[in-house]
Amino acid sequence: MAKQSKSKKDRKTSAWFQRHANDPHVKRAQKEGKRSRAAFKLTEILDKHSLNIKKGSVVVDLGCAPGSWSEELVPYVGSDGLVIGIDLLPVRPIEGVALIQADFDSPEGQEALQEALQGRVIDVVVSDMAPEMSGNKLVDQMRMIGLNEMTLHFANQHLRQGGHILMKTFMGEGYDNFRRELGLSFQKIKNIKPAASRKTSPEFFLLGLGKK
Ligand SMILES: C[S@@+](CC[C@H](N)C(=O)[O-])C[C@H]1O[C@@H](n2cnc3c(N)ncnc32)[C@H](O)[C@@H]1O
Repeated sequence: MAKQSKSKKDRKTSAWFQRHANDPHVKRAQKEGKRSRAAFKLTEILDKHSLNIKKGSVVVDLGCAPGSWSEELVPYVGSDGLVIGIDLLPVRPIEGVALIQADFDSPEGQEALQEALQGRVIDVVVSDMAPEMSGNKLVDQMRMIGLNEMTLHFANQHLRQGGHILMKTFMGEGYDNFRRELGLSFQKIKNIKPAASRKTSPEFFLLGLGKK
């Protein structure tokens, strides 16, 4: 039988797997028992930038699955602190983390968050959330900025004054406006592209320090 040539989608998928398998951060994550290579993006930001998470802090991790950021955050907040992770997907339990499966922007998600907070105020919001990728660059960009808007709205409502925010975004349409908007709520904004973030990816992180 004649061999069928691979579709464009299949070629793209196998190229992704190839890249993934050869990625040094993926290999390091496997070796160190991390849930995902994303852990190194957060640890680099915590090591090199002024996101100072003190013992006793309350941190909300939006879009936490499979859980590598939440896992890294636990020793930073210590036993008096609180890490709450929320995601649409289920997450394998993490010691010291309150996990919620919900859309963070839904009434159910908000209610579950309030319950997990038990009256405590949020010191830091981190978000590695990404939209479901459609493959259409403009659509994906708009979805990412939409998530950023929702995250900022959440922070404006729930983050304490002086608190910090870290969120993933994509460079492209709508970004400049969003950064300006973020500047209305935070005293200092930094753009960060960690080494573990693929150079070919439009993703980078916005760090907002000192909520006004
Ligand atoms: C790149 S992953 C996060 C990886 C995570 N930081 C880690 O280190 O394991 C992005 C996550 O955002 C979640 N997500 C996207 N939109 C969301 C929403 N509205 N509410 C909750 N989670 C969301 C996705 O389900 C996905 O698991």
